[in-house]
Amino acid sequence: FQMKTKFPEDFLWGGATAANQLEGASDVGGKGLSLADVYTFDEKMPKEQWSDQWHLMTHKQIEEAQDPASKKYYPKRHGIDFYHHYKEDIALFAEMGFKAYRMSIAWTRIFPNGDELVPNEEGLSFYDRVFDELNKYGIEPVVSLSHYEMPLHLSTKYGGWVNRKLIDFFVRFASTVFDRYKNKVKYWMTFNEINCVTHHPYVSLGVIEENHPNIEQAKFQGAHHQFVASALATKACKESNPKAMVGCMVSYQLLVPYSCDPDDVQATVDKQRTSLFFTDVQARGYYPAYTAKMLAEKNVVLETEPEDEQIMRDYPVDYVSFSYYMSSAVSAHPERIEGAVGNLLTGGVKNPYLPTSDWGWQVDPKGLRTALNQLYDLYQKPLFVAENGYGALDVLEEGDKIEDDYRISYLKEHIKQVKEAIADGVDVFGYTSWGCIDMISAGTNQMSKRYGYIYVDQDDMGRGTKRRIKKKSFYWYKNVIATNGEQL
Ligand code: BG6
Repeated sequence: FQMKTKFPEDFLWGGATAANQLEGASDVGGKGLSLADVYTFDEKMPKEQWSDQWHLMTHKQIEEAQDPASKKYYPKRHGIDFYHHYKEDIALFAEMGFKAYRMSIAWTRIFPNGDELVPNEEGLSFYDRVFDELNKYGIEPVVSLSHYEMPLHLSTKYGGWVNRKLIDFFVRFASTVFDRYKNKVKYWMTFNEINCVTHHPYVSLGVIEENHPNIEQAKFQGAHHQFVASALATKACKESNPKAMVGCMVSYQLLVPYSCDPDDVQATVDKQRTSLFFTDVQARGYYPAYTAKMLAEKNVVLETEPEDEQIMRDYPVDYVSFSYYMSSAVSAHPERIEGAVGNLLTGGVKNPYLPTSDWGWQVDPKGLRTALNQLYDLYQKPLFVAENGYGALDVLEEGDKIEDDYRISYLKEHIKQVKEAIADGVDVFGYTSWGCIDMISAGTNQMSKRYGYIYVDQDDMGRGTKRRIKKKSFYWYKNVIATNGEQL
């Protein structure tokens, strides 16, 4: 037995982004509209409404977004124009010493509507250029296939993932990019934060709530189709490149009981399963024992095909990746706790021991160590921290200075805990902090909710020079990577 006191030499340090939040150029190169492209931002919106902008989408909003005469601003169509700045941006990642860059491929650049038979060469060649640029600096791409950006057409025409046809469309897309990039990409992820189908079925599944009297049925049917699609994609990936690694990806919010009241303890176990259910299926290859009761309580009856079970068993994922931003407390009786209900993704309650960000996200670095231990104990598969970061309002001061000490402090404390987990014996092979360059927020569509080491001169309405400016955290992270996590 030898305890590990350091990060492994080949640890994948880097940053993470998603196509829909940074590429822009949504009308360039034959790209089609994605679900993300229909979200608007209105600068007059009061702060209290910042956090809940992407959960619901109505037919009316979608129709308006497709109307060329719409006067609204759609931030994710513009991103930070990575499409035209990718060389400059990747050079900055390389300057920080990135070993890995987690990104996604916009499905709509490859199959603009999603149901075409032939891929769009212009889209494929864009990612060839991006991968070649990364390769020039020895940066390993870690690529998500679906990161909240499926083709809008698959939602409007087919009803999204609730429709089994989506499996074939997705597998065609996945197989196309596996074959095309088999010599350029080794690490893949199928669905970003797959468990979020239960929080936001529109952006995860293309399912419009008003169409479904029992939305739970649509969510779990959509999830089942994604499980099968993920297993079939894993099969296709292995056939194309047996050395490739395919991972699942969940949003992991560590949940702790609010008190030692046995009801709080059981409520926590139940609630944690809203994310563990997804890793249970994808890492083990079969539905866990609690599925029957869980679905019955939601009046969900899954429609499956006889071959689904076998393909899921045959192709579980190689590794488990997750995003970790915060933890939350769970109470069986939240109504009894004064001021307890916080702005937390899974509807937990505020933990009085923890501070929160401007957006109400609770900061709990030690929870990352706990999460890594929990996930490793459960699955014994390599883990990858695919996202972790601190969204904040940065101030650009004279002389192009951004003193983001709060971000350094957040990241430093979390990376310390990854190191602790490695000493605990957890096999974690990479850490890509979220939003290594400022871009559009997924949840709020704001530019001003910034996570990056690199500031982008652009405001919420897309005004600005788009100049890239290094923050204080840029130099800090560069040193973290250079010392392989020894100097934090
Ligand atoms: C994760 C997503 O949920 O959190 C990212 O995978 C997202 O796409 C990130 O950007 C941070 O959330 P937000 O809403 O602050 O951008």
